[in-house]
Amino acid sequence: MPGTVVDSLQCEYQTNPLAIHSPRPRLSWISRTDQKNWKQSSYQILVAKSADALSKNSGDLWDSGKIASSQSTQIEYGGSSLASQQAAYWKVRVWADGAAGPVESGVAFWESGLLDRGDWKGQWIGSSVVGGPRTSAASPFLRKAFTLPDRRVRKARLYATALGIYEAYINGQRVGNDVFRPGWTEYRKRVQYNAYDVTTMLAGGANVIGAILGDGWFCGRVQGMDRQHYGDRPRLQAQLVIEFEDGSTQVLSTDPSWRTSTGPILISDMMTGEHYDSRLELPGWNQNDYNDSEWLPVKTFADPGIAIVPSLSPPVRVTKQIAPITPPKKAFTPGWGYSGYIADLGQNMVGYVRITVKAKPGTTVRIRHGEMLEPNGHLYTANLRSAECIDFYTCHSSEAETWEPRFTFHGFRYVEVAAHGECELINVTGVVIHSDTPETGSFECSDPMINQLQHNIQWGQRGNFLEVPTDCPQRDERLGWTGDAQVFIRTAAFNMQVAGFFNKWQQDITDSQTERGSIPMVIPNAGCGPDGGAAWADAAVICPWTVYLCYGDKQVLAEHYDSMAKFAGFLQVSSRDGLRGMKDLKANPGFGDWLALDGSGKTEGGTPKDLISTAFFAYTTRLMSTIATVLGKSDDAAKYAQVADTAKAAFQKRFVTPAGIVAAQTQTSYVLSLHFDLLPDAVRPEAAKMLVNDIKSRGNHLSTGFVGTPYLCHVLTRFGYLDVAYDLLHQKTWPSWMYSVTQGATTIWERWNGWTKETGFADVGMNSYNHYAYGAIGDWLYRTVAGLDSDPAVPGYQRLIIHPRPGGGLTHAKASLQTPYGLAASKWAIEGDKLTLDVTIPPNAFATVHLPTKDGKVHSDGLPAKSTADGTAEFEVGSGVYRFTATA
Ligand code: BGC
Repeated sequence: MPGTVVDSLQCEYQTNPLAIHSPRPRLSWISRTDQKNWKQSSYQILVAKSADALSKNSGDLWDSGKIASSQSTQIEYGGSSLASQQAAYWKVRVWADGAAGPVESGVAFWESGLLDRGDWKGQWIGSSVVGGPRTSAASPFLRKAFTLPDRRVRKARLYATALGIYEAYINGQRVGNDVFRPGWTEYRKRVQYNAYDVTTMLAGGANVIGAILGDGWFCGRVQGMDRQHYGDRPRLQAQLVIEFEDGSTQVLSTDPSWRTSTGPILISDMMTGEHYDSRLELPGWNQNDYNDSEWLPVKTFADPGIAIVPSLSPPVRVTKQIAPITPPKKAFTPGWGYSGYIADLGQNMVGYVRITVKAKPGTTVRIRHGEMLEPNGHLYTANLRSAECIDFYTCHSSEAETWEPRFTFHGFRYVEVAAHGECELINVTGVVIHSDTPETGSFECSDPMINQLQHNIQWGQRGNFLEVPTDCPQRDERLGWTGDAQVFIRTAAFNMQVAGFFNKWQQDITDSQTERGSIPMVIPNAGCGPDGGAAWADAAVICPWTVYLCYGDKQVLAEHYDSMAKFAGFLQVSSRDGLRGMKDLKANPGFGDWLALDGSGKTEGGTPKDLISTAFFAYTTRLMSTIATVLGKSDDAAKYAQVADTAKAAFQKRFVTPAGIVAAQTQTSYVLSLHFDLLPDAVRPEAAKMLVNDIKSRGNHLSTGFVGTPYLCHVLTRFGYLDVAYDLLHQKTWPSWMYSVTQGATTIWERWNGWTKETGFADVGMNSYNHYAYGAIGDWLYRTVAGLDSDPAVPGYQRLIIHPRPGGGLTHAKASLQTPYGLAASKWAIEGDKLTLDVTIPPNAFATVHLPTKDGKVHSDGLPAKSTADGTAEFEVGSGVYRFTATA
């Protein structure tokens, strides 16, 4: 097959992972070729104990044999189970329809980690220094000097975890480039560990391993609460495993012989900020000629008895650095009052700033963070609530000093720098961090304002996908709010590769689920409430279903099926005669249509909570029925279908008149009943008309909140009101997506009216300027405006549906997506009366293309049009690049 390459070999969504626990990890690859209609006909996977054996084509661990199949993602390894720390090298051969001999990939590998609890030889260690619920303690530095024989190191791995967060060092060098490790999990049940290849960091003779511990989510402030939510102080467990060229091994673990000291990090808390006194630095602390005789022995801690698992999600990393659009100020008036200097980074971002300053030793520099400015030009921080978000740095020399915090993050666009003495500010850089989920999607069209909206959605995702999908990154909240994640996940899966991120969070959901089966409001359950209620708790089913749709990942459904079924059981016992959300039943009636501006004057909007609850009851149990079918559980499928039918009948009886009027007549009540197919067929067109009438009566404004907004444009499109959907998209006065864009927003606001000329800043009790929920419109931009979608029956974009719907005066739009099969794209442009559609379908995938046509006259490189019903011409295509034209 000339020109065909097989690459991007991945194991469990990772490239050459070092800690896999599954005995049947899933393998994937991508075939790349320019050939049209390229389809994999067979594959053969070879897995060997060594790269050498694999090069001799031995599959001494597993030879799948030649399997006639087009599957190229998520293929379970079928060989014998690996031992702890064993490596498996693999490659794949791929045959295509109608082509001679196979194409062979390069070599990839995975390693198993420390599979059993007993493989961890060391102890949990930390410092005797401990803070209180309101008092922080300085970050402990830990170190251990050790000697290695003068033999060549063949392979060395560091396995490390912390309750809290850690940074590890070997011989003065930082291990890895990730931050906030090992992340946030439901610590009462599970903590993650990380594995690093440290082979080249060690040498014969004297060596030193060290770590700095931060409070993180474990013992720092979570939400607006006191510190020590999970435990009183951070602790570390690490194991360095060294294998020498002669086959001998040496293991070094955390134990009482490690030594500890405090250093310059006096306070480091995600809400408070970091206080760093550089005069207390410990130069050379992580190198071998350092004298640690003043250091104290570490304190050891009992094993908490929780699972230690490898991390599944991409780590948090620094992904971008931003220079302010305001020039740095050379010097400013000393004092803690308003300093008069604020740097504008031009982008509401999440992370921290790196500063370079020059001042006398002992001068303290203060950095405050805010998303907006007050009308008088001062920093607006009222919306941070109890989160101070202030970093302090104290200088130690008269030279220029560069510093950035380690264990805190802030959500901000503006930073105010002040110093209590004379100080020269030489540089400020915004350092952007987030879970490093690879960017996969792009959307662009002829309207710059819509492009800005897409920019804002992407930045909202960057700022809020930090270990868990959070509601907001700045105020004292930053929690895995289930409802927010549920409404945004489909958009998120376009912008970035989020399968590993959400697989990890799904485990947090399962771990946080209550005995009764309810799903807490926030995951990990930081204590907001045991039952999220409608549209929030339902994330437990909607999120894994979306991961299945977008990545073809059946395992997330299978692994968490029991948890989902338990939740569905809870829904049944907390509902009556198909109705959920009734006041007298022991369940959270929900948050309603959160933040809807529908004239009700209520934060939860005017759509009745029992209507929303019952609609989601029907939707979620319908999804459960489909999921059961996907997993081959036909009895369950029938059972859940019946529950869904009962809920639908109850919905109609209680909330719908024979004429199709839905209770409360809010936009959200129509949107939910139409999107979830809850209305009798006959009244749907009438109901859609009533929805449109309401939009028109408000001067083309939406009135939906968190719950109704994500589906609104989809419903309008489906029922023939594409023009109304575009009107809403273009609307520039609030409530609308474009209003915040007109106000210069660079992220999505929590509230439609977060700031208005008439009333200024909205209620400081809840007013975030980086809240992705309303960014869920991104899904409609990709799927409808550009027309790039996946067929749920052949998930993971193996069968694409290309169905662009030009409108709204746009002259062109395009979207691309790195699918599990490679790059897919849909791009249309209108010139005069000609519509051109360019489509890219990746190898081993296929698509149905719907080409809008006014008069049935189409050009399609000779491809036959299947039908021209509903004003589109339909084509079935295999992989390749295609151009279609039609009369616009
Ligand atoms: C959060 C939301 C969340 C909501 C629940 C808020 O404080 O920021 O985004 O979904 O509470 O009503």
